[in-house]
This record gives sequence, C-alpha cells and structure tokens, in this order.
Amino acid sequence: MEQYIIKGGVPLHGEVEIGGAKNAALGILAAAIMTDDEVLIENLPDVRDVNVMLEAMSQIGVKVERLTPHSVMLCGANIGDVNIEYEYIKKIRASYYLLGALLGKYKKAEVPLPGGCNIGSRPIDLHLKGFKALGAKVSIRNGSICAHAEHLKGCHLFLDTVSVGATINIMMAAAMAEGRTVIENCAKEPHVVDVANFLNSMGANIKGAGTDVIRIVGVEKLHMTEYSIIPDQIEAGTFMFAAACTGGDVLVKNVIPKHLEATISKLLEIGCRVEEFDTEVRVIAPKRLSCANVKTLPYPGYPTDMQPQIGVALSMAEGTSIVTESIFENRFKYLDELARMGATSKVEGNTAIITGTDKLTGARISAPDLRAGAALVIAGLSAEGVTTIDDIVYIQRGYECFDEKLRGLGAKIECISSQREARKFMLMTG
Ligand code: EPZ
Repeated sequence: MEQYIIKGGVPLHGEVEIGGAKNAALGILAAAIMTDDEVLIENLPDVRDVNVMLEAMSQIGVKVERLTPHSVMLCGANIGDVNIEYEYIKKIRASYYLLGALLGKYKKAEVPLPGGCNIGSRPIDLHLKGFKALGAKVSIRNGSICAHAEHLKGCHLFLDTVSVGATINIMMAAAMAEGRTVIENCAKEPHVVDVANFLNSMGANIKGAGTDVIRIVGVEKLHMTEYSIIPDQIEAGTFMFAAACTGGDVLVKNVIPKHLEATISKLLEIGCRVEEFDTEVRVIAPKRLSCANVKTLPYPGYPTDMQPQIGVALSMAEGTSIVTESIFENRFKYLDELARMGATSKVEGNTAIITGTDKLTGARISAPDLRAGAALVIAGLSAEGVTTIDDIVYIQRGYECFDEKLRGLGAKIECISSQREARKFMLMTG
C-alpha cells in the first residue's frame, strides 16, 4: 500500500502547472460517445477516475485510443452494450454520466445505482426526475437504473436542488431529445459550461450554460470534434492553499482566474497577497494566516471541494473560524485526522468551529476522501516533523503527479510503499 511521507516546514516556492479539470473530463468523456464519429479530447488529466471511466467505456464497445497521457481519441460507433458493470460505478460514481449519454443516443441505458460515498449519501433522484420528464421510463431492477424511451421529448424542468451531476446528465439526454428543453435552477460550475461547450462543438444546440436556466433544442445527430478541457480549478486552489499554509510564494500556471474568484477572495481574507494574470495566479503567504468564516455554496460560491483545504489553513490561523458545509453532510472527517496533528476543532451538525494553533506537528494519518486527503498533505507540508499519510489512493483519483508537482516547489514528500523507503526518506531529509 502506498503512502505519502512528508517532512514539513518547508515554504513552497516556484511555479506549478495545472492540468485539465477532472470533473469536466468525466462529463465530456461520457458525452463523446453520443456521436458515431471520432472525437479527440485534449488536456485530459491522467488521474485514476478518468482512467476508470475510459475502462468502463471500452467495456461497452467504445474505441479508446490513448494518444498521449493527456489526449485520447474516442469512437462510439460500435457500442454493443448499454449496460455498465457495477465494478466501475463502485470505483467511480461519475460513470452515471453514461446513463444520460446512452439514453440520449440510443434511448436506453442500464447503470447500477451508485451507493453512498465517503462525503455523504449523494442521491441521484434529480437525474432520474429529469429523464422521466423527458419521457423515459425509469425503473430500478436488481440494483440497476434501467431507463428507456420510444422517443425522448423536450420538457420544462425545475431542479429542486442545484446539482452539477443532474444538470450535466439531463443536458446530455436533452441534447438528442425531440424539441425544446428548458432546465431551471441549474448548476453554474465551470465544468457544466465546459460539457455544454463540448456538446455544442459536436453540433448540439445548448444555450445558457453558466446561468441558472439552460435552454436546449434537441438534434438528431452529433458529429466529430476536437476539444481541449478547461484547467482544474480545484487542483489550482489546492496548490494556492499549499502556498498559503506553508508560508510560501507560488505561481500557479494554466488557470482561468475567473473560476478561482471565491478561493482568491478567501485567501485575501486570511491575509495572503494574490496577484492575478491572464492565465496565472501568484499566492504570497503572510507570516501568520488570519481566521475567517466560510460557507460552501454552489458556484460561484466557495466550493465544497475546497472546504478541507481552507479548514487546514484555518487550523493554523490566528483566532477562531466557523466553517459551514452546506453541500455534503460528511465532509469534516479530516478534522479528526488533523486533531492528531494538534489542531483544535468542534463539529456541530454541518458547522465546524476551528481554533487556530501556532503549529501543527507531524503524525501518522489517513486520507478520508479525495479533497480531504489533499488537504491533509497540505497539513503535513506545514507541520513540524514527519507526517505519514495512508489511503493515498483517494488522492490519486483526482490529482496527477501530486507529490512530483509539490517536490517541484521544494516540498519534501515521497510516495513510498515500504518501511525501507521510509527510512531512506528520513535519512535523506535529515
Ligand atoms: C459534483 O458531484 C462533483 N463530482 C463533486 O466533486 C463536487 O463535490 C460536487 O459536484 C459539488 O460541487 C463530479 O463532478 C464528478 P451535486 P455531484 O449533484 O454532481 C444533492 C470531487 O472531490 N443532490 O452537485 O454528485 C446532493 O446530495 C467531487 O471532485 C440531490 O439531492 O454533486 C448534494 O447535497 C466530490 N439529488 C447537492 O445536491 C440529486 O439527484 C449537490 O450535489 C443530486 C444531488
């Protein structure tokens, strides 16, 4: 089992290049099978979730040709099966995007019902409500969602909760439905816009993505395209907080600063200096971070996927902060791990009260999920002494070469798989 071992206390300095957005990639890969033509996707992040998604697609007959680690040619002309295996949905919930894509293209799909996950219960009732509104018959049989329709017909739909997944899934199915669909109370996240832009580049007619009303006129056929995925704003934000927490100065390259507004605003509030350029942001940390209150919200609010990272920063800040998690109910598990490093916090319902300490100290901890895991790496980089992090497979689901990129900024971190490697690391880092 791989672990990260970190010798903390080194301020991060230098430049880091951000990859393509994982969550946009997952929607775009699914949408790519909606045409029989070849589709070229570039700026693809080479992370575990993306690779599992490609395996799931290849299992139903999609031709997957990985041209480079960051580009793939796909062809959905010979799909022989509309059933996705449980093995894949178990590993990666977002394979449910194949439901919307297959239903739109073939008017039928079968995908195992995803279970709960580490960050909360994560229902998919809204996705199903949307498919039903488009005229599909949806039933749950033997643990799978079975959706089929003679014809999908455009509809007017209001989403009760703002949901990224439901917005993308319904948008995909509606792109090949007959007539006009209006989806209200949509998610506005940059990856929703990216999937809409991608579908439009294949000939779909989708307007309004990025606002709360998306209007779609269905088309019969989609065609070939070449498309480059947007940069990952969560990967970018994670490195920005790594700079802030370690007292560093880092230039984060290949980003869209507009997508980072909520993160930048909180970094300023906790005392960092942030310089924005066309496709780069530089974060310069203060001597000591200040406390702040934060509440996660759908975009353009402060992202839930950046909640653990700011939580780690606040655990070292001067004063007491209140963090409210309003999207997922189970996203504070990292605070128990952080307590092992000397942080002080109290969780009541969806609120955490975090009292800053001058110094975290290294400990053996585990990554509870993807973003929490990345945040704990930041804690390890900021702490005095050595931190070992277990269950880093979660982190590898969404961060490409995380340890390598951090080493490029001067961090002392290694991915190890034996005690011998741990001893070697200790010897090298003194
Ligand atoms: C996406 O998940 C992301 N995943 C998550 O990223 C991210 O945390 C989340 O959006 C919020 O931004 C992907 O894009 C693959 P939602 P998703 O539907 O689509 C409720 C990461 O770390 N809801 O926007 O599953 C739900 O319970 C991951 O990269 C329903 O009630 O999230 C939640 O409270 C983790 N019914 C809220 O909506 C539904 O049918 C928002 O969830 C669907 C959602």
